[in-house]
Amino acid sequence: MKRLGVNIDHVATLRNARGELHPNPVLAAKFIKKKGINSVTIHLREDRRHIKDIDAKKICKIKDLKVNLEISTKKEIVRNAIKIKPNFVCIVPENRKEITTEGGLNLKKNKENIKSIINRFKKLKIRTSLFINPNLNDISLSKKLGSDCVEIHTGTFSNLVKSKKKYSKEFLKIKRCSNLAKSIGLEVHAGHGLDYHSTKLLCKIPEIEEFNIGHFIIGESIFYGLDKVIKNFNKIIN
Ligand code: PXP
Repeated sequence: MKRLGVNIDHVATLRNARGELHPNPVLAAKFIKKKGINSVTIHLREDRRHIKDIDAKKICKIKDLKVNLEISTKKEIVRNAIKIKPNFVCIVPENRKEITTEGGLNLKKNKENIKSIINRFKKLKIRTSLFINPNLNDISLSKKLGSDCVEIHTGTFSNLVKSKKKYSKEFLKIKRCSNLAKSIGLEVHAGHGLDYHSTKLLCKIPEIEEFNIGHFIIGESIFYGLDKVIKNFNKIIN
């Protein structure tokens, strides 16, 4: 069975736009759990532009819900993530001016720091994942650094699919990376920019166990409701 992790950052973005309490990302997490999805993703950004520490803490206290907390490698964020006690962490690159996470981690450049962050979470029995571009060297390096999982950045693939351009080369890259990752004992996740069509295509890769999807789910929910959109994704994924 493949899993869906719903990224609820955009619920917090909408709340913060008004500076009040509605819509509440904690209630969104509870709603998603009620609909049979047992994993949500939240990104505690350095500028706290959407999810705040208090949201993350409350979401992590929801019974029987797995929380995948995306974090950068900054000391302050790692310290706070340890206090928040998520089930999983996904280490992502972060650039203050970006609108969303633009690419995978530069593992080579940040090897030592990433390795020591992974070790800190491992000691706390928190599953670790690295958000990387579909590149074979980064898959091997993720294993060497001690990660449990890799999340393959699907942004380029998604954009090609959306713009009706040829995507077979990028698909093959993701497939080869997934294959290698699984063969060396890494769990494979995929995310970024995914919609119904791109997710359906990536479902042909058996090694991908988890999809983390946010913007499309929340955007589409404006028209069809979160319940319906989650159901549609569940049908596609399994
Ligand atoms: N996975 C990771 C690691 C991300 O950083 C993001 C964006 O926050 C997503 C998945 C979800 O991407 P999208 O909102 O484009 O579906």
